[in-house]
Amino acid sequence: MTENCESRFAAYRGAHVLITGGVGLIGSALARRLAALGADVLLVDSMVSEAGGNFANIADFRDRVRLNIADIRDGAALRHLLAGQDFLFDLAGQTSHLDSMNAPEHDLAVNCTAQLQLLELCRAVAPAVKIVHAGTRQIYGRPRYLPVDEAHPLRPADVNGVNKMAGEAYHLLFHDVYGIDTRSLRLTNVYGPGMRIKDARQNFLGIWLRRSLEGEAFEVWGGEQRRELLYVDDAVEAFLRAALSRDTAGLALNVGGDAPYTLLALADALVRASDGSARFEQREFPAERKAIDIGDFVTDDRRFRGLTGWAPRTALDDGLGRSLDYYRRHMASYL
Ligand SMILES: NC(=O)c1ccc[n+]([C@@H]2O[C@H](COP(=O)([O-])OP(=O)(O)OC[C@H]3O[C@@H](n4cnc5c(N)ncnc54)[C@H](O)[C@@H]3O)[C@@H](O)[C@H]2O)c1
Repeated sequence: MTENCESRFAAYRGAHVLITGGVGLIGSALARRLAALGADVLLVDSMVSEAGGNFANIADFRDRVRLNIADIRDGAALRHLLAGQDFLFDLAGQTSHLDSMNAPEHDLAVNCTAQLQLLELCRAVAPAVKIVHAGTRQIYGRPRYLPVDEAHPLRPADVNGVNKMAGEAYHLLFHDVYGIDTRSLRLTNVYGPGMRIKDARQNFLGIWLRRSLEGEAFEVWGGEQRRELLYVDDAVEAFLRAALSRDTAGLALNVGGDAPYTLLALADALVRASDGSARFEQREFPAERKAIDIGDFVTDDRRFRGLTGWAPRTALDDGLGRSLDYYRRHMASYL
């Protein structure tokens, strides 16, 4: 880490930081970085089997953070854990689009109702806490124009998108009405070491990585749709900067990747990163997926970049290479 980076994030040294969803992909990478910056880090995670929480994600720094296994729907536990926190990174969530269609009320409880309760608790016991909410670009639905900026209408294409949209709206409301120092980052697909690779619940790349490492062909559904991928360390940098930026308070801001790629281009990149050992087959979209697919997506995140100076630094081939390397060494912990 450069000296500049250290001084940019000096406010985290000794700060009390709570990360919900702290054992998942983004939360654990954020925790690792915050522990290295000298923060007093508390992770809260329910470790539900359908999500990306995995103790292997925190094994290398477990002795430098505290962990409380709790559900964000448990208000009594959260009240106690929130008191005295300087920062709250609000990442716990139900992330599967398909699961949200099959169990919509569970998604509602975690992604929406629990957010309202969390904000009420912040008002009560931690009114000065600085919050970054993990939002999603899924809330725009099928784009009406590209690239999608924050002025684009919100028209989610699945239950998860509706609940994430409402959860985010509570953050903006609590900023406007009660002065809570909160903002939301509308993230594109995040990937990297620590992601769920058992299946496609987190996003399509997880199962691509798994199949590639098992020597099987992975499936590309469709192929021409454009997507972005954001390497997890770049997502972490976005969260760290957002929490320290007064200018982002009360805003919902897009956070995209380095560039849009068609799924076929992404598949080719994975084949390259595996030195040619990975292979794939192109398939028609399964009907249940097609119904909630959003087609092409390209993010306009100039506003976030302008306000915070953030930009993704990890090139796609590097990020894919690092991910393959990680799972070659730790595959057993993720299956
Ligand atoms: N990864 C992406 O591509 C992506 C894209 C857009 C938005 N997001 C958002 O970022 C956040 C983090 O995502 P991630 O990719 O790290 O997912 P993840 O599944 O790896 O992490 C989420 C964590 O939340 C925990 N969790 C789930 N329900 C919980 C509950 N009720 N109480 C406490 N903990 C609970 C899970 O156990 C898991 O460890 C989520 O809110 C997600 O919606 C992620």
